Amino acid sequence: MAANWKMNLSLDDARALIIAIKRAETDFNTVDVLIAPPFTALALAYELLAETDIFIAGQNMHWETGGAFTGEISPLMLKEAGCTHVILGHSERRSLFYESSAIVNKKTIAAINAKLTPTVCIGESLSEREDGKTFDIIKSQLNESLKDFRAHERTYEELILAYEPVWAIGTGRTATPAQAQEVHSFIRNWITENIGSDIAQDIRILYGGSVKPDNIKELMEQPDIDGALIGGASLKTDSFIPIIHFYEN
Ligand code: PGA
Repeated sequence: MAANWKMNLSLDDARALIIAIKRAETDFNTVDVLIAPPFTALALAYELLAETDIFIAGQNMHWETGGAFTGEISPLMLKEAGCTHVILGHSERRSLFYESSAIVNKKTIAAINAKLTPTVCIGESLSEREDGKTFDIIKSQLNESLKDFRAHERTYEELILAYEPVWAIGTGRTATPAQAQEVHSFIRNWITENIGSDIAQDIRILYGGSVKPDNIKELMEQPDIDGALIGGASLKTDSFIPIIHFYEN
């Protein structure tokens, strides 16, 4: 269960939320929990989460190790700040900051080289879905975003995928569990055909887009949905904790 805080929460609010998550008595044998705070809250998250089972992710990074890239942050900087993971190619990065799959490809391999686990996001827009192009878009995003990953000596632990239909992000409009399962199954088949069946079986494919306490259980019952990337509902204790405790119901 991965919390994508996006550009939200003051340090005080971040501290209160992390402390509540730490106290939630989560069964970490059943669920892995990842928090992706804004860069300015990474040090705080690291301080509060050291020696817990909760992982920390950056929400983005540059592919170079350093240099003249004003406003950017490198894989090594994320590692130094305590991150084990990084979210890459989120649809907001793709649509608002013009990030192409070619850029996501460079970032994915840079993360792996730095021993950060990338969570690579893919997903179609509403018009693409309505035009019947969902599977073509997913296929081309996978092909281009994972181009170098495919050429690399890899294991499934090195990569997480997140299917996030753009029309379901922050809109309150969730894909139905059947709609999500259909695309997750397509993604897993693509991995079998293009990377390998062992990796396809074990890789985690997360669903993202208006995940809430009342839809998480049904989503998690789908055979190809292995977890969730949660935006809005990850910002509040009373919605995030029931989501990470989905297994109790
Ligand atoms: P949402 O965001 O849960 O607010 O829809 C999900 C995401 O963008 O990762």
